[in-house]
Amino acid sequence: MILILDFGSQYTHLISRRIRGLGVYTEIVPFHFEIEQIKRKNPAGIILSGGPQSVYEENSPKVSKEILFLGIPVLGICYGAQLIAHILGGKVKRANVGEYGRTRIFISKDDPLFHDLPKTFNVWMSHGDIISDVPDFFEKLATTDFSPVSAFRYSNIYGVQFHPEVFHTEYGLDIIRNFVFLICKAQKDWSIQDFLNRKIDEIKNKDGGVICAVSGGVDSTTLAVILSRAKRKEELNFVLVDTGLLRKNEAENVRKDFLSLGIEIDVVNAEEIFLSKLAGIEDPEEKRKIIGKTFIEVFEKYAEEKKRVSEIRFLAQGTLYPDVIESGVSVSGTAHVIKTHHNVGGLPEKLGFELLEPFRELYKDEVREIGKILNIPPRILNKHPFPGPGLAVRIMGEVTREKLQILREAEFIFQNELSKWELYNSVWQAFCVLLNTKSTGVVGDSRRYGWVLAIRAVESADAMTADWARLPYEFLDEVARKIVASVPQISRVVYDITSKPPATIEWE
Ligand code: XMP
Repeated sequence: MILILDFGSQYTHLISRRIRGLGVYTEIVPFHFEIEQIKRKNPAGIILSGGPQSVYEENSPKVSKEILFLGIPVLGICYGAQLIAHILGGKVKRANVGEYGRTRIFISKDDPLFHDLPKTFNVWMSHGDIISDVPDFFEKLATTDFSPVSAFRYSNIYGVQFHPEVFHTEYGLDIIRNFVFLICKAQKDWSIQDFLNRKIDEIKNKDGGVICAVSGGVDSTTLAVILSRAKRKEELNFVLVDTGLLRKNEAENVRKDFLSLGIEIDVVNAEEIFLSKLAGIEDPEEKRKIIGKTFIEVFEKYAEEKKRVSEIRFLAQGTLYPDVIESGVSVSGTAHVIKTHHNVGGLPEKLGFELLEPFRELYKDEVREIGKILNIPPRILNKHPFPGPGLAVRIMGEVTREKLQILREAEFIFQNELSKWELYNSVWQAFCVLLNTKSTGVVGDSRRYGWVLAIRAVESADAMTADWARLPYEFLDEVARKIVASVPQISRVVYDITSKPPATIEWE
């Protein structure tokens, strides 16, 4: 496996996903991971990620020199490269001209890292500091017009100033492949089918009942199918909490989808309790927290009742690798909380369950692959993400029954049109947002003073960054017409053309 030490770069996960895509297992750990723990993991290679700080700042994240001399190949990327240079006596300073985006690189020396690559190509840069000099015992491997050392090597320690992991770096994947196979000599032994077989066996070997909350999304559906392959029906308890914040007919549709997969789920109608707790609440973070807390309360009550009639030992959750890392990184203090994400954390200790989280090491696209192997229909695997707090974060201000009804109708029309125009699968996510602003309209001969509805559709690879989707004008035109014609409380429809960053995908 390849171990990645994270210094807080937004691209750290990309490094990991690229390498897994090559068939080699990876793990991301915080930069301050103990040297003894590193040795125990016995990696074939170590990568030091990029990061937002400057190595010459007193409090910037550092690693001990020892890590570079374990006899394991090391690759530093951007901040990681600067850190290696800094530790070994090189000079890193503020650049007169920072390099951002597409930059031409010139390879000055043959090396396995650039095996089979042209002598010059375009790479993606994002740095305000440069490595201005390296000790004589280093080999300089590449330069750009503004960086005298864009890639270097000392023994089996490498550094590259650019980002080979991003899509826009030409030959980026080749550089990673060269590092992983030619330099680290890693074995190609990570396959999703093997992983799935192993997980099913592991679950089979654990005695006891399981309880699992489902939403009908990709992760929980795939999880439920895995559980149903590993356990007897009587041992499984699936529940969908209907928060009253779901889309039109959603709970019933999810129940039917599960039935078609041979799985029965309980639907707990908790609309009353959620809506009463949300009454009068306008602040987005407060809404999210109330929903998270109420979800746990409702789930606990369900679990207590189930426990009375059946023996349950495990709580299964579809936690993904980025969720695991995110909590770890937050602990090390390098990540900012932008939004409180809704999950069921904290449940197991209180209820005395052991956790079953078979996807803890996986990325979403890997879960989709598993779903495909398990014959889950593409209609379910390609579902857009839907946030845990549901429509509550798509109604600006207070959530009321009436507003939920208005948003549900508009959303239903939008989704139908997306499918009809065969646009659903061409975007990452698309949805409606009900603003707390009214606007004047005219219908027939009368004035209509109704709500403004925003439509949002984005393209993305991983929800970390997103661009607004260039949907055809004719499509937007039809959606707007149909919504205003069918939902009398809406007087105006607008299209959101903000990317992430600076905006987020959801409005709250
Ligand atoms: P943002 O709005 O942060 O959203 O750009 C990124 C992705 O995450 C989804 N999202 C959530 N998913 N619980 C979830 O399970 C949440 O609380 C939550 N908030 C946002 C959002 O729909 C998008 O796909």
